Amino acid sequence: MQILVLGGAGYIGGHTSVVLTERGHQVVIADNFSNSSRAAVARLEQVVGAPLPLHELDVRDSVGLERVFSQYRFDAVMHFAALKAVGESCKKPLDYFDNNISGTITVLRAMSEANVRRLVFSSSATVYGDPEQVPVREDAPLQASNPYGRTKLVMEQLIGDLCTADPNFRAAVLRYFNPVGAHPSGLIGEDPNGPPNNLMPFMCQVAVGRRERLQVFGDDYPTVDGTGVRDYLHVMDLARAHVDALDYLCNKDRSVTVNLGTGSGVSVLQMVKAFERAAGKAIPYDIVARRLGDSATVFADPGLAHALLGWKAEHDLDAMCRDAWRWQALNPQGYGSIIQPD
Ligand code: NAD
Ligand code: UD1
Repeated sequence: MQILVLGGAGYIGGHTSVVLTERGHQVVIADNFSNSSRAAVARLEQVVGAPLPLHELDVRDSVGLERVFSQYRFDAVMHFAALKAVGESCKKPLDYFDNNISGTITVLRAMSEANVRRLVFSSSATVYGDPEQVPVREDAPLQASNPYGRTKLVMEQLIGDLCTADPNFRAAVLRYFNPVGAHPSGLIGEDPNGPPNNLMPFMCQVAVGRRERLQVFGDDYPTVDGTGVRDYLHVMDLARAHVDALDYLCNKDRSVTVNLGTGSGVSVLQMVKAFERAAGKAIPYDIVARRLGDSATVFADPGLAHALLGWKAEHDLDAMCRDAWRWQALNPQGYGSIIQPD
């Protein structure tokens, strides 16, 4: 099939483009490079061993989007293009509403006009807010704890309304837990702009010498060692889930909303230990105050994704850390540099 990957130069869209190509699909990438670069797409091409059609495009640009739709006959759209930094969304909510929500409306309209009626959408565990119960199931109450989370909730609702209004429109809404790791080649990976907000990229930058020490946000949570517990999943497992979701949309001809996680909770200190094993070096850290808005424990019940899509996470924590570290060690400055693997 021919698939339009919006935000395909980014971390998850890039890894998904690799798996789509491996499974025989033709990928067309569109991205405005607000959080990525052409260098990332060049690396993707190296991984897949073929050129990938690329359009520099903002998803809010309806004319540009229409032009891309008119050049191809897409069977489906995968929509990764969004701003995703929680802290920034609190300072600039309008930018988030505009980029994420207006962008999604433009995408949905362009799809309708081009008669493309399959969508795979990047949602997030953030739609559960601070969950009352773990493991979190898809029917848990939904709530937004910040403007970023609100955009995900609203986008899910917009997509749901469109599915109701158009009996032929099919959407797979994928609620990711904590994606980490990288492609095993070490050629592509996560390359955040500025200081990383998330645990894994921060540890990677400490290990490679770009940052001195990790700050562990709180050790007084009611968890195994007092630090926050999350459901980390390997980005290659996550990428595979998108292709499985696409198959579901085609074969079952139904829409679906599922959690994507391993179903296991891992604490910050457990994660630090696993990473130290993978990198073969110590990660110096300080325990500091809790981060505002953090929950103690969040992990998925991934049973529905298994039942409906046949999907299950396969990589363990050691593989996540090993692949994240390989990427960072080979690319200390992200896409700005590479050391050739042996
Ligand atoms: P990313 O920033 O690496 O990728 C997003 C890509 O979209 C970037 O290449 C960016 O340049 C592009 N983009 C953003 N706004 C755009 C616009 N208006 N027009 C065109 N391109 C635009 O982020 P990611 O980690 O790959 O996340 C992908 C999706 O998954 C996002 O929707 C994000 O909210 C969601 N998500 C990510 C995580 C995570 O931990 N990484 C967790 C849950 C959900
Ligand atoms: C964060 C976002 C969430 C988003 C997700 C994407 C917040 C409040 N939540 O989730 O909306 O969907 O990223 O992956 O920002 N930690 C440290 N030190 C650090 C970084 C993190 O101790 O430098 C801890 C956190 O307190 C948490 C765990 O590590 O317990 C994981 O944090 P992170 O990687 O930021 O993910 P989430 O908090 O789950």
